[in-house]
Amino acid sequence: MMKKSVIFLILGVVVLASCNKNNKVTPICDGSTPTYNSFVKNIMTSSCVGCHSDMSTYSGLSNYLSNGEFEKQVLTKQQMPENGTLDATTLNKLQCWVNNGFPEN
Ligand code: HEC
Repeated sequence: MMKKSVIFLILGVVVLASCNKNNKVTPICDGSTPTYNSFVKNIMTSSCVGCHSDMSTYSGLSNYLSNGEFEKQVLTKQQMPENGTLDATTLNKLQCWVNNGFPEN
């Protein structure tokens, strides 16, 4: 039946679309330069350190910044945090921080 296949097609598109996270990250560099201490540390503590204890300090975290894994997992693929999501404003600010060379202070 024609009707049935149309319904399945629509269902398929909806399911596929809901699997795709919105990967558009636009860095917000509005003059207020985010730093690790002023901005990132709190996010790490509340969203990451529970699973990644090595990310509880700047020096621990900076390993993943230097090798690009932080940007890949959190900003590009948006696979982390594994058990949730970060809101768009947070992602944009994080991208700005990474683009600025992830300053500590
Ligand atoms: C619920 C647990 C959990 C939370 C919360 C979590 N992660 Fe992860 N993370 C994992 C696991 C498990 C892996 C390994 C996944 C894999 O290799 O497929 C991983 C892998 C990673 C990697 C790649 C590590 C490597 O060795 O290359 C990075 C970077 C990362 N996470 C960053 C973060 C950041 C930043 C946050 C917070 C925004 C976060 N994660 C939150 C569980 C978690």
